[in-house]
Amino acid sequence: MRLFEQKINRRNFIKRTIQAILSLNVLYIFSSLLSNKKEGNTLDEWYEAGDINNFKNNHIYPYSSAHFYLSKIENGGMLAISTKCTHLGCAVQFNQSKDMFVCPCHASAFSKYGEVVSPPATRALDIYPISIQDNKVMVNVTKPIKRQKYEASQLTYA
Ligand code: FES
Repeated sequence: MRLFEQKINRRNFIKRTIQAILSLNVLYIFSSLLSNKKEGNTLDEWYEAGDINNFKNNHIYPYSSAHFYLSKIENGGMLAISTKCTHLGCAVQFNQSKDMFVCPCHASAFSKYGEVVSPPATRALDIYPISIQDNKVMVNVTKPIKRQKYEASQLTYA
């Protein structure tokens, strides 16, 4: 009888040990998935535009694949301006000779600050948050900021 109880206890012990190991594995897999997802989001959200020292004042830099322009104005302030026209959403293009963004669909025009210069658009182009870390200019391409007009407080400085 005693031998039988010992066998059952040993069997229970092994069964519980296996269950515990499996539970730890499941926990590990879940935590790995969660941490990978977090890192992925971070990488997806923040677009590295380049070293701050590579940007000249009073210049517009296109990032077509990420759908924004980086505008560095005369005093060094920066704006990450969405390419999406605030009229019906076509992609605006920067016209160097006119020094403004022009929409190919219905001819809205915007200043280098993204402000409406010519309708039918009625509000400024959206901007994205900028963060400068270790001289790298980072743009959060997932968080467009709607605005009616340009204001100096929207600029980011190094
Ligand atoms: S979509 Fe840009 S002016 Fe209409």
